[in-house]
Amino acid sequence: MVKLQVNNVVKVIEKKTIIDNFSLTVNSNDFVIITGKSGTGKTTLLNVISGLTRRDSGEIYLDDALIGKHMQNIWRNKIGFIFQDNLLLENQTIKKNILIGAKFNKKLSDEEINNLLISVDLKGVSLKQQVSTLSGGEQQRIALLRTMVKRNEIIFADEPTGNLDKVNAISLVKLLKDWSMEDQHAVVMVTHNPEFIQFATKHINLV
Ligand SMILES: Nc1ncnc2c1ncn2[C@@H]1O[C@H](COP(=O)(O)OP(=O)(O)O)[C@@H](O)[C@H]1O
Ligand SMILES: [Mg+2]
Repeated sequence: MVKLQVNNVVKVIEKKTIIDNFSLTVNSNDFVIITGKSGTGKTTLLNVISGLTRRDSGEIYLDDALIGKHMQNIWRNKIGFIFQDNLLLENQTIKKNILIGAKFNKKLSDEEINNLLISVDLKGVSLKQQVSTLSGGEQQRIALLRTMVKRNEIIFADEPTGNLDKVNAISLVKLLKDWSMEDQHAVVMVTHNPEFIQFATKHINLV
């Protein structure tokens, strides 16, 4: 099933064409990886195709609805975003960070949250612990859980492993992939690291 359809999208910034006629079909079980060196427009592309940033021309459909103005509902219900800097609330607890924004998930019990933590290999931590006490790799896994519990249908991830060492980076991408396969979530991830292409159902290299 087609989840996201991007047709001939163009984005110009300060008279420079950053995205030139980009098209992509993302099915609901796709794990799309977009690679490219720094400055090739990965972040711009992700922001445009997720509707965060305005495009200059072209069409983007999410579940057949044209992405444009009035995105709040679509964003809240359908789209998840993982950033390179995880944007966690540093002075808040692990539990609060996982549940943030997940309105309809307030009912998650502590036991369920603990099971989620185990699923991302974070067994020993306490729900009441401040996220700032965790390592970078652990914090990024909390950011992943925060996105997962929202049960969004499509996740956009901008260099989610950018701040992690090699071992943590691979394990994070594997978690994202397993989860997308189990729950049929589509993922569009950009990365400068070609090592992750092995996980992709579709791969695009920007030059
Ligand atoms: N807000 C902006 N103003 C001016 N130039 C920008 C802006 N955003 C991106 N660019 C330019 O667009 C190009 C692509 O940037 P970006 O999408 O961040 O690439 P990447 O994520 O692949 O490193 C770069 O040349 C960058 O300088
Ligand atoms: Mg970038």
